[in-house]
Amino acid sequence: MTAVRDAWLTLLALVLLLPAVAGAKDPTVSAVPTVETFGTLPDGREVHRYTLAVPGGWRATVTDYGAILTGFVVPPREGSGGRAVDVVLGFDTLAGYVAKHPYFGAICGRVSNRIAGGRFTLDGRDYRLATNNGPNHLHGGTVGFDRKLWRATPRLSDRGPAVDLELVSPDGDEGYPGRLTARVTYTLVPGGELLVDMTATSDAPTVVNLVQHAYWNLAGHGSGTIADHELVVHADRYLPVDATSIPTGSFEAVAGTPFDYRPERQPRGRVAEALGKLPPGAAPGDPRGIDHGYVVRGWEPDGRPRPAAVLRDPASGRALEVFSDQPGVQVYMGNFLDGTLVGKEGAVYGPNAGICLETQTHPDSVHHPDWPSQRLEPGGTYRHAMRLVFTP
Ligand code: BGC
Repeated sequence: MTAVRDAWLTLLALVLLLPAVAGAKDPTVSAVPTVETFGTLPDGREVHRYTLAVPGGWRATVTDYGAILTGFVVPPREGSGGRAVDVVLGFDTLAGYVAKHPYFGAICGRVSNRIAGGRFTLDGRDYRLATNNGPNHLHGGTVGFDRKLWRATPRLSDRGPAVDLELVSPDGDEGYPGRLTARVTYTLVPGGELLVDMTATSDAPTVVNLVQHAYWNLAGHGSGTIADHELVVHADRYLPVDATSIPTGSFEAVAGTPFDYRPERQPRGRVAEALGKLPPGAAPGDPRGIDHGYVVRGWEPDGRPRPAAVLRDPASGRALEVFSDQPGVQVYMGNFLDGTLVGKEGAVYGPNAGICLETQTHPDSVHHPDWPSQRLEPGGTYRHAMRLVFTP
């Protein structure tokens, strides 16, 4: 009798253990991210690409060059018979990212977006930065954080597979004061969430504004334009800009303008509504879509996450909700993509092939002492937490 019971117990244990044993060999189960060589920089340094995978087919790929999110694969909805889709614009090879491109998937810094005239004053001292966007400074300068090799450490965190990236930006780097250490962690949470946690510390007063600059297209990175996508921006006010895309200084109501993507709108606004128009306050000669900062509704400097934006592809039902603890979100509809860049799988990225939803402090804040500050003190820590929640 005991022998029979033991045999049953052994069988039961085997049945219970089998999935775990099989799972250990299944690359789609949460584990420490895998690493592969992505290429070699002109100076000989090796660049890596990390793959974060969780059950169900969710996958994020990240490279240590520019801390770039090179891909994000959303699996088909269960039972839909659909296909997995990569929803991030980018390149198959390192060469694509080393060549000129508009910050695909990158972490931009030290100060993302624009600084008017490439100059600012801190504690009575004037600083001059590269003017790499007309008369202004954009996304950290000529060699911004998007063009640096970060030090990466893959691990399995308690939330899911993660990659920690660290970059030391020396004192005087691109004209900025202070030796700044930037840290970014990408974590893929089972069920379809991507966490992007950004921090920075400095040994002297400086300014910082890191953004995650992924271009999203929920129909697939090479599927055409995002014109049909539904968009929600949790903001009642936006920042009008001058002809060089510098905020004029006022926060204007979105009501009654093409900038109105408030969550109350029924049906939801479509990206297409803003395309081909010259919204009031937009830069003349830039009629291709929105490229403006918004003031996140209800923001307080309490570090709490708040909804910033929602993007949805009505054809597939795929959706992305963006939460962050930042006071603003730059909505950039891929206006300047012109079809000259050939991306992953031979995709040609034309105007509005993707949309950036960049949570951050307001552009050109260094010239607006009454806006939430970009200033970082030695001993303090800059924090920016982004949570991207996907619906397959
Ligand atoms: C800016 C755009 C710029 C784009 C690519 C966005 O964050 O708002 O004006 O063209 O980045 O450089």
